[in-house]
Amino acid sequence: MLKMIELPYPLNALEPYYSMQTLELHYQILYKGYVDNTNKTEEELKKAREKNDFSNIKCLEKNLSFFGSGVILHELFFENMGPAIPTEPNVELMQQIIKDFGSYTAFKNQFTEASKVVEASGWCILAWIPKWNKLEILQCEKHQNLTLWGCKPLLVLDMWEHSYYLQYQTKRPDYISAFWNIVNWNVVNNRFAKI
Ligand SMILES: [Fe+2]
Repeated sequence: MLKMIELPYPLNALEPYYSMQTLELHYQILYKGYVDNTNKTEEELKKAREKNDFSNIKCLEKNLSFFGSGVILHELFFENMGPAIPTEPNVELMQQIIKDFGSYTAFKNQFTEASKVVEASGWCILAWIPKWNKLEILQCEKHQNLTLWGCKPLLVLDMWEHSYYLQYQTKRPDYISAFWNIVNWNVVNNRFAKI
């Protein structure tokens, strides 16, 4: 059984960049739904194995991928934000960013622009690609489409409307620029150190 992660900060800690009401709904209702539905799917898969009845397997595998990826990405997202105390990529991560994107500004510009044009519901992700030994910025549709297998997400931004609509409505670019104020690079640095 998956359990919800605790938020590493109080619900109002990301104000004014990410409102308490938005975070409360996002964490307590939407994220909880993904955890509950992943657990429900795992339970149904267990029953299917016990009964040796896989008539519904296509739907169950789809749900496992959708809800499970939703859980993982939300946890990475909540954890890679923090109160607006400036943090930055450490030397190792910055060197890699410069190697793969040319400069920090170029990385930030690409991440920002890629976030703006995520189609419908999805994510923007800075990921480490072990097979290529390099960083890439990926868009993800829903929670699980358009990935590169083996990628290790380092910094993720939720571009589903529920993540910003209450506070920013159609102003996606404002949400994205506010996000840069609450990125916790210490967490991203640690993820990069563990690749
Ligand atoms: Fe979300």
